[in-house]
Amino acid sequence: MADIPTIDSLDARGKRVLVRVDFNVPLADGAVADDTRIRAALPTIQKLVGDGARVVLMSHLGRPSGEGYEEAYSLAPAAARLAKLLGRDVAFASDTVGPDAQAKVAALGDGDVVVLENLRFDTREKKNDPGFSQELAALGDAYVNDAFGTAHRAHASTAGVAALLPAYAGYLMDREVSTLTGMLDQPKRPFVAILGGSKVSDKIKVIDALMDKADVLIIGGGMCFTFLLAQGASVGASLKEDDWVERAAEMMAKAKERGVRLMLPVDVVAADRFAEDASTVTVSADAIPDDMMGLDIGPETAAAYADAIAGAASVFWNGPMGVFEMAPFEAGTRAVAEAVAANEAADTIIGGGDSVAAVNKFGLADAMTFISTGGGASMELVQGEALPGVEALRR
Ligand code: 3PG
Repeated sequence: MADIPTIDSLDARGKRVLVRVDFNVPLADGAVADDTRIRAALPTIQKLVGDGARVVLMSHLGRPSGEGYEEAYSLAPAAARLAKLLGRDVAFASDTVGPDAQAKVAALGDGDVVVLENLRFDTREKKNDPGFSQELAALGDAYVNDAFGTAHRAHASTAGVAALLPAYAGYLMDREVSTLTGMLDQPKRPFVAILGGSKVSDKIKVIDALMDKADVLIIGGGMCFTFLLAQGASVGASLKEDDWVERAAEMMAKAKERGVRLMLPVDVVAADRFAEDASTVTVSADAIPDDMMGLDIGPETAAAYADAIAGAASVFWNGPMGVFEMAPFEAGTRAVAEAVAANEAADTIIGGGDSVAAVNKFGLADAMTFISTGGGASMELVQGEALPGVEALRR
């Protein structure tokens, strides 16, 4: 991020600093169910508060219709949680750029914080509408983007507004981009990439990109069955994408050509149905009975994957190995998480989404070098795509 200034070079005292954060957090019963993303934004917010800025926070939450206020998507619970975490009052504006936002911003003193209501209540946000960008820009003297999780979206608050004010990266944005690009540009070797998740079609670009970087590529999750099919295995009723078998075969050939060790399951935990109380059996990965579906990698596979992970100098992990949300199918994901956590000498990076949920579930988050707050954004970065929210900050 050499050509992008961070908030360290912003003279913030007395200024209204408009900060795009990613407070797109899960809610339950009107409260924040997981505040990881709010905590991740604290270093930037605290720095600006400490510098005497008038901090104006804006975010989206979920995917509302864009036709105005919807209670289920209000940022009020996130503002309340932020106040608790900061240990100070946080004002909340009941609109985004309207009279309440304008009044609450005008009332800020140095070091005060206000959270604006959900950007996506206004349909112009996702359209990157110039008029909306201008209305946002009118609420600040400087702009900071700390919303790495939304950096892959070219919206008014992540792209348009950056051109209208002096623009800076927040600490989270800086750390996310530097860590992920550092790993990709100069991975410590051996570099082991672990990819899971249900669909090859969702991950093909990531697999392709990592093929050029990784020494070992470990495949798990539902998508492994499309690879196993390409090897001629019988995968029974497991998840598979027939249209992607050929691409999977190409990937395996490419791995061979490049000298990348591509690891696939040798055994799987199969079930007679997709349910926690299903009947299960561990079978060879190439002979899953017709009426059964693979829902986790088996113990022999887990041991082989753990072994490869133990020998890594750097690890990137995205996507669970099985249906870890259900106890009978969590062992594979747990074994991988434990192996990554146990490799203390390696740089271990968790690339957002479900793998973060898994690491949290198993209580291993503290053992990882870095956990990305961006699912889609980190995938796009790994795929080598430019992130609009980052590009907009370049001078
Ligand atoms: C995310 O959770 O990936 C980001 O907050 C972006 O949300 P979106 O996919 O609704 O744009």
